[in-house]
Amino acid sequence: MPESSEAADRAAGWRARVEACLQRALSLGTAPSRLDAAMRHATLDGGKRMRPLLVYAAGTAFGATESSLDAPAAAVELIHAYSLVHDDLPAMDDDALRRGKPTVHVAFGEATAILAGDALQSLAFELLVEAPASADIRVAALRELAIAAGARGMCGGQALDLAATGSAAGTLALPDAMALQRLHALKTGALLRASVRLGGIFAGIDAATTLRMDAFADALGLAFQIRDDLLDIEGDSATLGKTAGKDQAQAKATFPALLGIAGSRQRLQELAGAMRDALAPLGARGAMLQRLGQQAIDRVS
Ligand code: IPE
Ligand code: IPE
Ligand code: MG
Ligand code: MG
Ligand code: MG
Repeated sequence: MPESSEAADRAAGWRARVEACLQRALSLGTAPSRLDAAMRHATLDGGKRMRPLLVYAAGTAFGATESSLDAPAAAVELIHAYSLVHDDLPAMDDDALRRGKPTVHVAFGEATAILAGDALQSLAFELLVEAPASADIRVAALRELAIAAGARGMCGGQALDLAATGSAAGTLALPDAMALQRLHALKTGALLRASVRLGGIFAGIDAATTLRMDAFADALGLAFQIRDDLLDIEGDSATLGKTAGKDQAQAKATFPALLGIAGSRQRLQELAGAMRDALAPLGARGAMLQRLGQQAIDRVS
């Protein structure tokens, strides 16, 4: 079997695993039915599952079993799904389309969308608490995800994003690249880094290896959001499954607004190099991570 199709099969297997785990977690049927339906709408049937794939790729690269990674893979996807529900709210990006479907607040109303996001976040931590792993591993994983999701991570980045929105992002000067990089590192990078770290935690890797993997994940996280910003300009809504062209309309702080399209593409190539360098010591074990890094840069949705 050629390498690429073997890798594609592995990724498809991981996707099926996390899908089954999410289905199970969302099939408990204990939430009131409208909340339950909103949570399922937000989480199932759609999404690239990039964060779970990173958990499996990082974890198995360092010897964890696939089954031990199901809980952290699903947990990080639940946090991501919650972040998208809240990101789309009228008070934030005010989006009507997500993963090719109406956004949760359009389908279920704003109050239920807020609650669905809240409940998805709680469910993520419940899954980690109950993961079949030692108490030390579970506590480390809970800490990692809590920090990445909170004010020092995704929520903090979303706050910076909102503060920068409408501030004539198109006229930002070059030194602002550091501020924009920080914004992206928090709002998107934190959860992607946590995904790689969760894989490492469940595989029991040491601190030095964690640092090397952080270098990979940080380059991937920035590349992922720069690509997202480029797709908002160059993609179409049908392929993206979300409304294109919104960043400029809302004057969002983005890399294309700051560096232009060519400058942003150039930055992506630099980040591809940084990912390759960080993974080089892993040799063949890093192949799946390398593939995901390339997908962050090449993706069309
Ligand atoms: C969208 O994330 C929001 C960003 C952080 C850029 P994804 O592009 O991973 O969205 P899904 O999960 O595939 O829908
Ligand atoms: C969203 O960034 C990041 C989070 C959800 C935390 P965007 O606002 O650019 O994501 P899209 O374009 O709506 O998916
Ligand atoms: Mg946003
Ligand atoms: Mg948005
Ligand atoms: Mg975007």
